[in-house]
Amino acid sequence: MRFSIGLLSLFALIVSAQDTNVRTVKQAFDNANIPTDIEITFNPTALLEVTFPETGSNPITIHAGEQLPRNSTAGPPTFRVVGANSNGPFVVATVDPDAPTPQNPTSAEIRHFLGGNFRANAGGLLTNSTPAISNFLQPTPPAGSDAHRYIFLLFNQPAGFNQQTFVTSSTSTSLFNISAFAQEVGLGNPIAGTFMLVAPDPTTV
Ligand SMILES: *[C@@H]1O[C@H](CO)[C@@H](O)[C@H](O)[C@H]1NC(C)=O
Ligand SMILES: *[C@@H]1O[C@H](CO)[C@@H](O)[C@H](O)[C@H]1NC(C)=O
Repeated sequence: MRFSIGLLSLFALIVSAQDTNVRTVKQAFDNANIPTDIEITFNPTALLEVTFPETGSNPITIHAGEQLPRNSTAGPPTFRVVGANSNGPFVVATVDPDAPTPQNPTSAEIRHFLGGNFRANAGGLLTNSTPAISNFLQPTPPAGSDAHRYIFLLFNQPAGFNQQTFVTSSTSTSLFNISAFAQEVGLGNPIAGTFMLVAPDPTTV
């Protein structure tokens, strides 16, 4: 008993060191109206850490809802899962529901990343054993637009995912629907996620 309480407080310590927890991530998604807008059920049981490499400074790990300057988001980002009850395989999807503008998202969702066969190492770092279906696209909100939401979701990968043909590397990245795709391939609900806001480059406004 004493041993398991020790483990629990160790876990609490590790999770708080991430400066976030599943409840605050869920709250940030709800506050930004994300589950409604992309028609997903979001009750995360793990944390997805998304980290952008930076030239000349430290990498940036997103806190849910944080705004980043566009020039910090060239990527490709790395992914880490904290608190998942398996080491994979996982599917990662990134979507922009606000294209070309949040007020009139006629080309949304834009698929900014889609890849499967991610496995976590002992530290939770995710590595995919097959090329992504859609490689990471840097956010490029058009001049004059408000900031867009860029949403990263982690799913348990269903059997047969590698045989799906609903979305391939030649499928248009616009007018994507993560909710429909999840239903088509049986992804279920995301187990983790995060999001960032990115506005147009100051030079393009
Ligand atoms: C990104 O843009 C900001 C604002 O224009 C600028 O201050 C900053 O130096 C840029 N950073 C990089 C890494 O280019
Ligand atoms: C996206 O897919 C869901 C589930 O199939 C559907 O209910 C919804 O209407 C679709 N959204 C759009 C904008 O087509």
